[in-house]
Amino acid sequence: MQINIQRFDPDKDENPYMKTYTVDTSAFHGVMLLDALEYIKTALDDSLAIRRSCGGGVCGSDGMNVNGKNGLACQTLLKELPEKVTIYPMPGMPVIRDLVVDMSQFYQHYDSVEPYLQSDTSDLEAEQLQSEEDRAKLDGLYECIMCGCCTSACPSSWWNPDKFVGPQGLLTAARFVLDSRDDKRDERLENLSDKYRLYRCRGIFNCTNVCPKGLNPTAAIAELRVQQSEGYNEL
Ligand code: FES
Repeated sequence: MQINIQRFDPDKDENPYMKTYTVDTSAFHGVMLLDALEYIKTALDDSLAIRRSCGGGVCGSDGMNVNGKNGLACQTLLKELPEKVTIYPMPGMPVIRDLVVDMSQFYQHYDSVEPYLQSDTSDLEAEQLQSEEDRAKLDGLYECIMCGCCTSACPSSWWNPDKFVGPQGLLTAARFVLDSRDDKRDERLENLSDKYRLYRCRGIFNCTNVCPKGLNPTAAIAELRVQQSEGYNEL
């Protein structure tokens, strides 16, 4: 298998360049692309920078662009890839080195939607029960692992990286807007009500197409707009 990887070390390189590795997939144990990258790093070229942690689709560390589509290396089966693979760091995010990108702005947007339960009336230190129906409203929202694949695939995030919250941040916003235990629905919607933070989404489903957990940020964004159109109760 031939694996082409964009390399860039800002301390040494003026520009990014592609480097090709020929990998014998029978030379190592493992069936995922992450296993092949680990093999390259340990056996062929220890200067390659990658980010990984769990190896099992939980931590969200190893997002990258593989043959034109964002995904997790640890969830990408080698047998489903063609003989030639081309890997870039996730688009739309500054490259720190090789496949490692700076996700600071991504985290700032996440932080801006206040991703934690808030209530003036309930003691959130104590257990708060939900009906099965209310709990079900969070399905498809709470499972996000914050890998950044969706936001990195979104042209609206590329054009307005500092102003548009992006698919991941908005999915998280919806997760708290819809939570029956949270009292801050109106404030959360108001926090998104300018022409950039929520409304830059053009509904092209790039985010949904790449989410490794099968989530649908576009639908979550649509739900936020429905909630806004229904008005605020208390503001
Ligand atoms: Fe943790 Fe892939 S290494 S999600």
